[in-house]
Amino acid sequence: MAHIIVVGNEKGGAGKSTVSMHVATALARMGHKVGALDLDLRQKTFGRYANNRKTFCETQGIALPSAEYRDLPEVDQAALRPGENPYDQRLAAAVAGLERDKEFILIDCPGSHTRLSQVAHSLADTLITPLNDSFIDFDLLAHVDSDGLKIIGPSVYSEMVWNARQLRAQAGLKPIDWVVLRNRVGAQQMVNKEKMGKALDNLARRIGFRVAPGFNERVIFRELFPRGLTLLDLRDIGVKQLNISNVAARQELRDLMKALNLPGVTVDF
Ligand SMILES: Nc1ncnc2c1ncn2[C@@H]1O[C@H](COP(=O)(O)OP(=O)(O)OP(=O)(O)O)[C@@H](O)[C@H]1O
Ligand SMILES: [Mg+2]
Repeated sequence: MAHIIVVGNEKGGAGKSTVSMHVATALARMGHKVGALDLDLRQKTFGRYANNRKTFCETQGIALPSAEYRDLPEVDQAALRPGENPYDQRLAAAVAGLERDKEFILIDCPGSHTRLSQVAHSLADTLITPLNDSFIDFDLLAHVDSDGLKIIGPSVYSEMVWNARQLRAQAGLKPIDWVVLRNRVGAQQMVNKEKMGKALDNLARRIGFRVAPGFNERVIFRELFPRGLTLLDLRDIGVKQLNISNVAARQELRDLMKALNLPGVTVDF
């Protein structure tokens, strides 16, 4: 059985597709067989990222280790039983198609609450939730008091994860390993940054997730999309010397991969 990694957060623009591409590519580069799905059927950022990589490799005549990206297959609507959801069937067929020969399936979710995303969360062996360093983004995980210190209660997204956990428990599946990582963190030591850190540590204990080292705000995470590259590919396309920010970004990705603690993975880049 493939280990399913879901990257989800109902908040748009948290960094899900960026994290998806980097985690999927890091695994592929370490020699693992990785399948990839994009459940944002409208924007398809992750799918486009993966296709850009394919096109770049073809036009440059190079081979870069890559996850195998697949679109969700269409299902025959007429063949559905009454009450059966076509999206559930499409996701199930996509996962079944990859499960046979992949060690990992990476699923990128849309930045909104959809049926597909909800079902995907219940399939997650590992759930990665990138989070912008802002209390507006934190608000989808939990409500806090005006100081930002005291947690008043869980919010819509963590309730959805809680439901997914219940479904898995009922089905006798192993619990979701939920990992939250802060993204686009500013370089300076700011009051807000410190408060967010404390609030997250507090919440982690309350609702059961782990906080992984995150990514700083870095140009490199933004500029590689058109070529479908990640910062792990730079040496292969002839970049001789990584600048300090790119070396630090590589370290951030390495620390994330270690923190994910995925089965059978020894982080060696
Ligand atoms: N660490 C980072 N440093 C700089 N820019 C980043 C970083 N992470 C993400 N970005 C940029 O932030 C924007 C949102 O990222 P991304 O598309 O990965 O988020 P998303 O959660 O997938 O969004 P959506 O909810 O729309 O699917 C993009 O422009 C991306 O290039
Ligand atoms: Mg996205």
